[in-house]
Amino acid sequence: MADVAVIMGSKSDLASLEGAFKTLEVFGVSREVRVMSAHRTPEAAADFARSAEERGVKVIICAAGMAAHLAGVMAAHTILPVIGIPMASAPFNGLDSLLATVQMPPGIPVATVTCGTSGGKNAALLAVEIMALADPALREKLRAFRAEQTAKVSADDAAVQAQFS
Ligand code: RP5
Repeated sequence: MADVAVIMGSKSDLASLEGAFKTLEVFGVSREVRVMSAHRTPEAAADFARSAEERGVKVIICAAGMAAHLAGVMAAHTILPVIGIPMASAPFNGLDSLLATVQMPPGIPVATVTCGTSGGKNAALLAVEIMALADPALREKLRAFRAEQTAKVSADDAAVQAQFS
């Protein structure tokens, strides 16, 4: 049983999800990873979403490109929170995926994050934040992560100031 399900519409999306896997690992969150398509394997995608809650999944992350319906289809078949990552596919550099993922009709929300590789990291962080609502230890890890991130930017600022002084 995994807390987070990471689903991609095609194996060609895998490289864009490195940040998601790394982040979930940093926070010690278990994940299962699958390739399923809203268009090419619609029955498998629907079945997965329908059974996710009873299998103990808490958050579903879906990465898809082009006419990116994967997150929306998953969300239609579950009340679990679904996070969509629009893949930066050609020829529109992700604008197509972004609109297809974010523009859900009222009643079936998808939390849409940044296009492309940055989206993987943010999707994982958002999943961790959702789970942290019921997990104080995870909340502390998130606070530590933010503090570390802030310290790194401050260190970068000091280094850049020194370089250009
Ligand atoms: C989407 O179509 C996938 O998520 C992928 O981003 C895009 C292209 O898929 P492939 O032709 O690379 O399999 O369903």
